[in-house]
Amino acid sequence: MSPGAKGVLLAGSVITVLLAGAGGVMHLFLAKGARPGGNPVTAGAPRPPEVAEPTGPIDQALADMGDELVATKGCLTCHSTDGSPGTAATWRGLWGSTVRLEGGRSAKVTKAFILRSMTDPLADIHEGYIPQMPAYTGLLAAGEMDAIVEYIRSLAGEGGESGG
Ligand code: HEC
Repeated sequence: MSPGAKGVLLAGSVITVLLAGAGGVMHLFLAKGARPGGNPVTAGAPRPPEVAEPTGPIDQALADMGDELVATKGCLTCHSTDGSPGTAATWRGLWGSTVRLEGGRSAKVTKAFILRSMTDPLADIHEGYIPQMPAYTGLLAAGEMDAIVEYIRSLAGEGGESGG
């Protein structure tokens, strides 16, 4: 084999490695990019209904239902409700606070934000946390999600806004 042919072979394998690498990146990009509503291609698709943000006093019965659900549905294995750190952020004071997201964005914790966290956890990644939250679409009924939102809202504490 001539030295020239060797060079071509070598270049060929380098390109294969590069392509394999690019494939991995591409896959990651597609997985992250495929979020409902986040893509102009889906502009013609029906928009999700507007979320009615809860205001006023806590609906205690609804919050109590949420309190039970977050235990039975496993949320509390990663999230705490008393401010202690864990795999994920505590819910104490989370409601109404502004969380920093991976990619330099930030978001205010509202009902819409919490609903999106439950149905599409990869859409917004809380900065500094490893994205490992499962999607609860199909595992929680809409009414159950409302109850969990009300429970998290009830943990805002006196004065509403804290933490972040
Ligand atoms: C396996 C661990 C795990 C479980 C179980 C889990 N989460 Fe999470 N959750 C996370 C992590 C980690 C984040 C931060 C990364 C991200 O934003 O995806 C997060 C983020 C969130 C956020 C966004 C705000 C924040 O705290 O960062 C909400 C709201 C939330 N989870 C609610 C829930 C609810 C409700 C349940 C149960 C129905 C649940 N999670 C179950 C790990 C978990």
